[in-house]
This record gives sequence, C-alpha cells and structure tokens, in this order.
Amino acid sequence: MLALSGITVRYGERPVLHGVDVTVSRGELLAVLGANGSGKSTLLRAAADLVPVAAGQVTVDGGPRDRLDLALVFQRIHLVRRRSVLDNVCAGALGRLPLRSSLLGFPREVREEAMACLERVGLADRAHDRAGSLSGGQQQRVAVARALCQRPRVVLADEPVSALDPAASEQVLALLAELAHVEGLAVLAVLHQPALAARHADRVVGLRDGRVVLDGRPDQSVDSLYQVLEPVS
Ligand SMILES: Nc1ncnc2c1ncn2[C@@H]1O[C@H](COP(=O)(O)OP(=O)(O)O)[C@@H](O)[C@H]1O
Ligand SMILES: [Mg+2]
Repeated sequence: MLALSGITVRYGERPVLHGVDVTVSRGELLAVLGANGSGKSTLLRAAADLVPVAAGQVTVDGGPRDRLDLALVFQRIHLVRRRSVLDNVCAGALGRLPLRSSLLGFPREVREEAMACLERVGLADRAHDRAGSLSGGQQQRVAVARALCQRPRVVLADEPVSALDPAASEQVLALLAELAHVEGLAVLAVLHQPALAARHADRVVGLRDGRVVLDGRPDQSVDSLYQVLEPVS
C-alpha cells in the first residue's frame, strides 16, 4: 500500500497541499481528480519524492519508501524515439543494474524480462521497431511496459491519457486497472476526465485547493465527480 499522510507542500510561502491523506492499496487503481491548480501533480511529486514536503510522510507497504518501488508514467510520453521499443523498456531496469552492464548493452535476462513486459501490454510484435514509429497510444503502453520492467510496487501516472484519442485512452486505463488487479500493484492515476475515472478506477479522490474533498467509489452517475472539477467560486 502507498500511504501519504498529512502531506503539506509549500512553494515558497504558499501552501499548495494542506495536510493531505491519501492511500492506495495493492490491487487498486485510484484516480485523482481536481481542477487545474488543485495540487494533483504536486501530490504525485510528493509521493515520488520529487518535491520537498513541509510536513507529513509517505510509506510503501508500511515501510520507508525506496525510489525504485515507484514507477512514473507521464502525460508527455518520455521515450527515446530513435531507439527500439525493447531498449526503451529495458531502460526501466536501469535503476537496479550496475552502470557497466548498461553501457555494454542490456544483459539477456533484462531483455527477456522487457519482452515479457511488452507482451503484458500487447506490443511484443513491435519490440524491434523504433519507438518513434508507434502511435501515441502504443507509445504510452510502451511507457507502461518500461514502468513494469522497473518491478515497482507502486505506479504513479500523471494524466497518462491526456494526449491520447478516446480509444487509446480507454486501452491505457484498462491496462493500468489490469496491472493493479492482476499484478497487485498500487496504481495512482491523475485523470482529467471523470467519465474515464468512473469507468476504470476502483476509487476516486477529489482534490480542491490542496485538500481532499471526496474519497470513495466512483458511482454510476459521474455528476458528483464533475463537481470536483468546478472552479472554486
Ligand atoms: N514549481 C512550482 N513553483 C511554484 N508554484 C508551483 C509549482 N508547481 C506548481 N505550482 C503551483 O501549485 C499549485 C498546484 O499545482 P499542480 O500540483 O501542478 O496542480 P494540478 O496538477 O492539479 O494542475 C498551482 O497553483 C501551481 O501554480
Ligand atoms: Mg498537473
């Protein structure tokens, strides 16, 4: 389980998260919704230790967080476009490889594991193509495979489908849900479409002005989720 408790983050003097509590269980896809500027990305950065927290703590499975436990997937797809799909996925293993072995090319075990990760996202047949030759949706699935190749306990995704068309968005979210359910990962995804959250997430947290204003199961009517997105009056 990923547990954030009492997380307060300030940029300069200004607090942007006010003692936020959020948990994500293993086997669960949690969607975080909120208007622009409500602190969603900051929450994800705090979880990943990419921003200093003024107060609060982050644990993974009840213990201190190790950076290798957390894999990140971004809105803008960060792949090396001219390298092969397989090399991009292998890069997920870099954190646990000695520098020497990665300079000499990835070891066979890593390449095999990366291939299995590609199979997981349905793209094994594209392993030897240049990453840049794939569609946006396929590239994001490669990014998910790279995250898997890191062998994380937690996946953090910041608007992973914002740049994708509706069909690709459905596919990537179904994949993230499956990783939670089948692999037992704790998956936190910031989304901007309540309808997608309602369809795919097991739980939804709503942020407003740096505070949690909703935490529950996505119900069939997504109206309550849309309310979270309305600008603060
Ligand atoms: N590096 C930064 N320095 C100063 N202010 C920031 C920085 N990053 C974000 N903010 C501010 O913090 C607030 C929350 O931002 P963010 O977490 O990116 O929101 P969201 O992802 O929900 O749109 C916003 O008001 C934003 O302008
Ligand atoms: Mg953001």
